[in-house]
Amino acid sequence: MSRIFVTRQLPGPALQQLAADHEVDIWPRDQPPSPSELLQGLRQSDAAITLLTEHITAELLGQCPTLRVIANYAVGYDNIDTKAAAAHGIAIGNTPDVLTDATADLTFALLLAAARHLTAAERSVRQGDWTTWEPAGHLGHAVAGATLLIIGYGRIGQAVAHRGRGFSMNILTAGKRDLQDLPQMLSVADYVSLHCPSTPATQHIIDAATLSRMKRSAILINTARGPLVDTAALAHALQTGQIAGAGLDVTDPEPLPPDHALLHVPNLVITPHIGSATTAARSAMTHCAVANVKAGLEGCPLPYPVPERHHSALLKD
Ligand code: DGY
Repeated sequence: MSRIFVTRQLPGPALQQLAADHEVDIWPRDQPPSPSELLQGLRQSDAAITLLTEHITAELLGQCPTLRVIANYAVGYDNIDTKAAAAHGIAIGNTPDVLTDATADLTFALLLAAARHLTAAERSVRQGDWTTWEPAGHLGHAVAGATLLIIGYGRIGQAVAHRGRGFSMNILTAGKRDLQDLPQMLSVADYVSLHCPSTPATQHIIDAATLSRMKRSAILINTARGPLVDTAALAHALQTGQIAGAGLDVTDPEPLPPDHALLHVPNLVITPHIGSATTAARSAMTHCAVANVKAGLEGCPLPYPVPERHHSALLKD
């Protein structure tokens, strides 16, 4: 029997199945364990299931001699020092595929909501401001026939492209081989959606310079990772009308403090990192994580391994 530290209660039945064969220690609170609590949990364990809120550093891994496998409960794994894990012989897994459609759906929900000022219009109804039908009230941006630029053309980027074609959009894609064309593509896009992993190379891929290339009518969508966008530059661009709007499911920092500048711009639709938040996707993620743990404990290759080469990849494709 092995000991497994799980840093939050997870949806679906798979964790209970794991507990039938192993000693499973589930962090009982909604808030993440502190660094010292995380260390305490990992140090006594053979395996762990972690969330993107846990920073798995080289220093931490160096203090966990019994740890053999970490199953990250996310497709992204920028919270884990994968090189240090490899050096310590710790296998790292993630949860690909099962959240692709859920995240692509949320991307489109944000795109449509930002295009049609959905949250502001809804608020106006609740505030009693709907007094008549207004020919020029809440005028938004057309989606059909518009150009959607997808930066990072992996699984989720492709699923977003599929949805875009269903809405009769023109699709442009920027993978790592097309980066030299990014400035030109930004200048013609009506919607820009980010789907690359967060790495040192993709940090602030949207900054003051790239924002200045975008149309004043353009809308930025980010359901990938907050650090892809320079938050201060985006807040400034939205405040000054340099771009028309944004839909964000991820931010930097995350969560945003209540007084953050982004929360005071009118043309932003924002959700709390819920891209994969459907019952089906989150249960399937638990299943993947448990399968990774079981394989790792048995000394077998993980069914959903983090590919080491991706660690330094500029864009997923
Ligand atoms: C991921 O999987 O990387 C998401 O951000 C959380 O589901």
